[in-house]
Amino acid sequence: MKSTTIKGSIEGGPFRFLHVPGKLHEIWFILADVMIQFVQHCINPECRAVFEVDEWVYVCARCGELLEIERVSGSAFEATELRRVWTERRASSDERDRSGVWRFREFLPFDDEVEVISLGEGNTQLYDAPRCADYCGLQRLRLKHQGNNPTGSFKDTGMTVAVTQAKKLGMRRVVCASTGNTAASLAAYAARAGMECMIMAPAGQVSAAKLAQALDYGAKVQEIQGNFDTCMRAIRELVHDGSAYLVNSINPFRIEGQKTVAFELAEQLDWRMPDHLVVPGGNLGNSSAFGKGLRELLAAELIDRQPQITVVQAAGAAPFARFYDEHASDLVNEEQPQTLASAIKIGAPVSWKKAWSAVRESSGRVITVSEQEIADAKAMIGRDGIGCEPASATTVAGIRKLVNEDVIKNDESVVAVLTGHLLKDTDYVIKYHEGRLVAPDGTKIKK
Ligand code: F0G
Repeated sequence: MKSTTIKGSIEGGPFRFLHVPGKLHEIWFILADVMIQFVQHCINPECRAVFEVDEWVYVCARCGELLEIERVSGSAFEATELRRVWTERRASSDERDRSGVWRFREFLPFDDEVEVISLGEGNTQLYDAPRCADYCGLQRLRLKHQGNNPTGSFKDTGMTVAVTQAKKLGMRRVVCASTGNTAASLAAYAARAGMECMIMAPAGQVSAAKLAQALDYGAKVQEIQGNFDTCMRAIRELVHDGSAYLVNSINPFRIEGQKTVAFELAEQLDWRMPDHLVVPGGNLGNSSAFGKGLRELLAAELIDRQPQITVVQAAGAAPFARFYDEHASDLVNEEQPQTLASAIKIGAPVSWKKAWSAVRESSGRVITVSEQEIADAKAMIGRDGIGCEPASATTVAGIRKLVNEDVIKNDESVVAVLTGHLLKDTDYVIKYHEGRLVAPDGTKIKK
């Protein structure tokens, strides 16, 4: 099992407190009697198999279920001390401190010697959106814009961690299936790490901008007839022979990076979580990561309550919402998912069990919105001077619906997570504003 020596300590805790002269921004805590250890465990309660953190597995080798990274030993963190160290790092010029992911590295499964592959991800704005608030019927609405990451989507926060792990394991080739953003992000981080990158994407269904990014960063893109789910199945077959490292959100290291967005959000809100956190749902890695991040923040007493997590899906690609509505015991895949929000055109979400834990634990919900609602909400986000890609706008559309239904009250605090940048899909934007946007079922979208 990999052991990590903690640097950074907690005054009054089991660590010796040592101040290094000349490094005022950095307090080094010297290991006393505790080593931090991480493992990967199977989320299936009937299996619970445990794997070393550096074992090359994506899913449980015993039962095939998803894995989750867990800290199994090490002293409890002290919330005040952590906040202070994290604040100090913001003024540091160390590459890791400048990353909105690695700044929270006490919660990441690496030691201090690891070679971090970073593009300065995270540190994204939390915007006030007064026009969107009005549109939704809220007094106030804030938008956490993950589209302001280096490659224009939230994927970068997970990719920095997954590619760092790939590099640490000595991988030369990384691969993913993608509706576009994972592809762009992986291609960029692979380029930084000097690795080969191969992507499987559904032919004709990825926006030109996302494809252009992947190509420019040097990835080989293989287009497959079918949809994202077809690509996902194909890529899982491909990595069986061990020739490449799979970096979809099935890989638990992706979730580790993405969970830090919850940390950054908590910090931006002075550690007071909102009543509601609303995220789009596709393959469901993002909602899973928020669930894990919030769980860890609560356990470390960095926050004192959870926001309710609402996952919003496009009505034509909503297997998770159907599972939720029907109180089903298992998720039934959608064979032909359909939506103009191409990023979330997914019928067989791999992380649905983790996302379901996140929704259940937070007393949240899963809802759907129509193509017209997505398009209108997207235009409204633009009118706030912010903008986003279509999948992200499901959040504002969903909030409006929930306020209308009185599930969200007018004076409650609400944060929506925007996942991708406006320029990711300009074809959609222009068609909408010219009144030429047509939904997959042939209905004309009204401007
Ligand atoms: N928003 C955007 C902009 C996305 O690109 C994605 C997923 C999601 C939301 C949904 O997030 O899958 O974690 O529930 N895009 C993946 C991709 C599937 O390949 O880029 P999720």
